[in-house]
Amino acid sequence: MKVFGKNYRASWMVVRGGRAIVKVIDQPLLPHRFAIKDLRTHLDTAEAIRDMTIRGAGTIGAVAGFGLAQACLEAPDEPAAFWSFVRAAYDTLDKTRPTANDLKHNLDRVVMRIAGLPPARAKRAAVAEANAISDWYARVGEQIARHGLRLIKNGTRMLTHCNAGWLALQEWGSAPAPAYLAHRKGRKVFVWVDETRPRCQGANLTSWEMMQEGVPHAIIADNAAGFFMRRGEVDVVITGADRIAANGDTANKVGTYERAVLARENGIPFYIAAPTSTIDINCRGGDDIPIEERSHDEVLFVTGRDERGGLQRVRVSPKGAPARNPAFDVTPARYITGIITERGIIPARRAAIAKLFQ
Ligand code: MRU
Repeated sequence: MKVFGKNYRASWMVVRGGRAIVKVIDQPLLPHRFAIKDLRTHLDTAEAIRDMTIRGAGTIGAVAGFGLAQACLEAPDEPAAFWSFVRAAYDTLDKTRPTANDLKHNLDRVVMRIAGLPPARAKRAAVAEANAISDWYARVGEQIARHGLRLIKNGTRMLTHCNAGWLALQEWGSAPAPAYLAHRKGRKVFVWVDETRPRCQGANLTSWEMMQEGVPHAIIADNAAGFFMRRGEVDVVITGADRIAANGDTANKVGTYERAVLARENGIPFYIAAPTSTIDINCRGGDDIPIEERSHDEVLFVTGRDERGGLQRVRVSPKGAPARNPAFDVTPARYITGIITERGIIPARRAAIAKLFQ
């Protein structure tokens, strides 16, 4: 997607002199500054996933793939030492964030590609596979946009939560992708962007992406969604996903469940948009999805730019106040009208999901 007229992905990898540098758009700086960060070792890459320098299920998956390829290049050439280094790197990367299925999915994709190869060939194969993963996300984002396009008629007012745009899926994104395509095709589309406390991915990232694409939108406080739904100003809700269980229950950014219940109450269709890499066919239902609990400081403080342009973190609660901070919630499948995947829109039902994996 274009930033100031130049094409970017959320992350990519440069290999030079037998070493890899992972390059990422530094997301916590947005929308105030656009900067690229270099991650020079797989440990830097793991930390960038953990501290959310990059975030969003698809980009987490792509960066995990890059991180493991980077580790393969760092590993010693002697076979036993090579595999023990790669195994340790796998564990380090795997432990960074627990909810997004795409993380482990892509670590396993790289491992399957290099299994049984001698180290020199495994290094080349890991780099090729990591790049193929990144290309795959770029392709499926566009396919999700095409399948979802039929939900965005001329004049549609869509609501989305968090950031599931191209920053979260390398290119195009998932939930907002149909709106981007509709807008490029000249349809009149309007997007309600939930601010998405506590980290404000909607206000910081989705709004910034929409401004780059010129899509008309408005940021709303999280607790204003019901107000606009009840007034008949929302035609469809589309959100992304971090993990979809085999029965269609879906984990996405905390607050998604409330949107789904509100949408049902107001007779509004509620869709999940996600690539098939987000589906965990081994996870029976939503109660089995691991939910990340992040630092309480994310709730107790907000970060923004002061009038002189500096980034400031300020406390918005009494000193010493307790907090809780689940990063995701689970929307039961019964609230989900359909799942927009790269292979079409399917019902959020066990049989339809199983069919994708036959
Ligand atoms: O904690 P984050 O910012 O990584 O959470 C991101 C989301 O919940 C997105 O909606 C989801 O990953 C979909 S991204 C294609």
